[in-house]
Amino acid sequence: MAKQSHTKRAIAGILLAGAILSGAILSAPAQALDPGDAIQTRKAVMASIGAHMNGIKAGMAAKNGKLVAGHAGAIAALAPILPGLFPKGSGPESGETRAKAEIWQQWDRFVATTKALRKEAEELALVTELGDTAEIAAQFGTMARAGCGACHQPFRTRK
Ligand code: HEC
Repeated sequence: MAKQSHTKRAIAGILLAGAILSGAILSAPAQALDPGDAIQTRKAVMASIGAHMNGIKAGMAAKNGKLVAGHAGAIAALAPILPGLFPKGSGPESGETRAKAEIWQQWDRFVATTKALRKEAEELALVTELGDTAEIAAQFGTMARAGCGACHQPFRTRK
């Protein structure tokens, strides 16, 4: 028994060390991403943000504010990570991407849209607490325009 718990503690120690190590790797500057990897990563992250949008819509349809708030919170958490997924050199010259060269020419404007996305997504999570369906829908629209649209329109090529 004592031996078993010792083993468990040893395993827990290894897992903890692994978590700290992977945390160190994950918190390293995202600029270190190779351009090809960055393209793959951001497409996956964007697709998951798109899925969170569907989660919000489902939550609104079901009048489930917690669902809306949970998905909005996930988007708010992802927004500040986005700029790091667009390292210099990860434009059309480096692979199949809809990212426009304007991103790197107007970097501050690009980053500003991620801040707007975070702000409006946080606001969406907050308004769910009021339970007002119309207000939640309105804030969802604001987030989509000021967050998603404000970046896609100038910075993403059409399909
Ligand atoms: C800071 C700019 C920016 C913001 C903010 C942003 N996007 Fe994007 N999004 C892009 C760019 C650029 C691409 C193209 C990425 C590529 O092809 O490398 C993209 C691609 C996508 C894709 C396609 C992913 C794929 O499979 O290729 C989806 C879906 C998407 N975005 C959804 C959203 C939604 C929903 C929001 C708002 C909640 C959002 N995005 C906010 C810039 C942004």
